[in-house]
Amino acid sequence: MAFRSAAWFGPEDRNGFMHRSWMKNQGIPHRMFDGRPVIGICNTWSDLTPCNGHFRQIAEHVRRGVLEAGGFPVEFPVMSLGEMLLRPTAMLFRNLVSMEVEETIRANPIDGVVLLCGCDKTTPALLMGAASCDLPTIVVSGGPMLNGKHRGADIGSGTNLFSMSEDVRAGRMSRQQFMEAESCMSRSAGHCMTMGTASTMASLVEALGLTLPQNAAIPAVDSRRLVLAQDSGRRIVDMVREDLRLSRVLDRRSFENAIVVNAAIGGSTNAVIHLLAIAGRCEIPLSLDDFDQLGRDVPLLVDLMPSGRFLMEDFFYAGGLPAVLRALGDRLHRNARTVAGLTLGELSADAPCWNAEVIRSPDDPLREKAGIAVLRGNLAPGGAIIKPSAASPHLLRHRGRAVVFDGLQDFRTRIDDPDLDVDETCVLVMRGVGLRGHPGMPEVGNMPLPRKLLQRGVRDMVRISDARMSGTAYGTVILHVVPEAAAGGPLALVETGDIVEVDVERRLLRLDVAEEVLSRRRANPAPPARPVGTGYERLYLHHIMQADTGADFDFLVGRRGAAVADNAH
Ligand code: FES
Repeated sequence: MAFRSAAWFGPEDRNGFMHRSWMKNQGIPHRMFDGRPVIGICNTWSDLTPCNGHFRQIAEHVRRGVLEAGGFPVEFPVMSLGEMLLRPTAMLFRNLVSMEVEETIRANPIDGVVLLCGCDKTTPALLMGAASCDLPTIVVSGGPMLNGKHRGADIGSGTNLFSMSEDVRAGRMSRQQFMEAESCMSRSAGHCMTMGTASTMASLVEALGLTLPQNAAIPAVDSRRLVLAQDSGRRIVDMVREDLRLSRVLDRRSFENAIVVNAAIGGSTNAVIHLLAIAGRCEIPLSLDDFDQLGRDVPLLVDLMPSGRFLMEDFFYAGGLPAVLRALGDRLHRNARTVAGLTLGELSADAPCWNAEVIRSPDDPLREKAGIAVLRGNLAPGGAIIKPSAASPHLLRHRGRAVVFDGLQDFRTRIDDPDLDVDETCVLVMRGVGLRGHPGMPEVGNMPLPRKLLQRGVRDMVRISDARMSGTAYGTVILHVVPEAAAGGPLALVETGDIVEVDVERRLLRLDVAEEVLSRRRANPAPPARPVGTGYERLYLHHIMQADTGADFDFLVGRRGAAVADNAH
């Protein structure tokens, strides 16, 4: 069987000479060009992406597995998306990286690919690009950090940063104690060890069937992570020989499983945008309403921050994702395919649970209904989402007076103003922070509460925005309002003092203002649109779609395959 790479390395002519000869300058022996599968190892290592800082070691173990199985490993870099340092936000570049991945795979003599994913956006970006190319593909995640430890207690990435910084603002924690926690939170290689977006996406690629079992939870520094990498390197070589392309693994069942699993693990709201985008690349119909309908009655089984108490290290010791897959039983399509060659049901049939406190049984869930809820109404005709498992139950049905902020700067300027007319029954509204309004849609939807309310002991309020929020964050936070204000959405019409009604059970998000009043407001001149810049931002603003369809670029949706014209030497 001739593989795709044979078109480069096979011919005994001038072009074949060039392709082999220049590769040989790396010390590659001639026998490697004998028609064996060439496996691309797509690496997102970077010192600037600390969550992926150990990926050179992971890549080395993938390489060992590829060689062991008779393949030819070729590692290549792509732009790395580190959540912490990139400005204005890593999400601005997700689609850019997906383009780089797609074009790099297609343009090169690659027969199958291993995607090394870790920090939040690297997983969807790499998978979107690979899905558009549709070669045999397996994912290896970098794994979570060990639990943070501070003053005898476990502390979780992001989640405890948010709670501690609120404690400092409320005067409950000293700044010295806060600074001390900084070194205690991130104490090993790996990504955030809460069920934030990175852990969520690592879990969902396992649920999609794109990894070997236990990909989601093995800690980054556990030697079993390296074994998983090596085994994945072995497996991708066989996948090429079996022509087990992404489109032969992923189908609608896979995505339905991922939605159910996201509810059961208390996964990140960002997963909604990413799964919609990945499904779009796979040409599999998936809508915002699927998340509501499929996740609505799924119980929360995993007691991890930010919805619960524990961390990813505990999750692994308790049995990891296979234990959750087993517990979900027939809520999943157990016959969905996986890269391992077995079905998801077969892979998890005997998965043990070692700690029923961390991974609960469906008879004793942490919460009865954990799925992400999609709210609609005159404030969000295209939908908005809330993660009920991370919200305050008493605020899931609420009417309150809006306090409106026009963008992040306005919010930062006024939120701690002692004269701000706000109490705990109010609804904080921030707009102009969506995909177009603040390119990249920053994770600012979990707005910090006003200091004066924190000092009075208030811990949560209803917050609404067209922004995203970190998967590690929590609170009664309504996000991804569609259309966003900058795209003409009704969020732009809200005025401070208007009454907003939220009813999660009825899936309602309503502005209690008469339609004729809204029409009058609509007639007023809108604030000037954000000027379209130059460079990448120009491409982004011309083509970005809204959150309800995955925030992909309109011209990237779909599968284009791996066929490529002959080279032009
Ligand atoms: Fe990288 Fe959280 S900052 S996973």
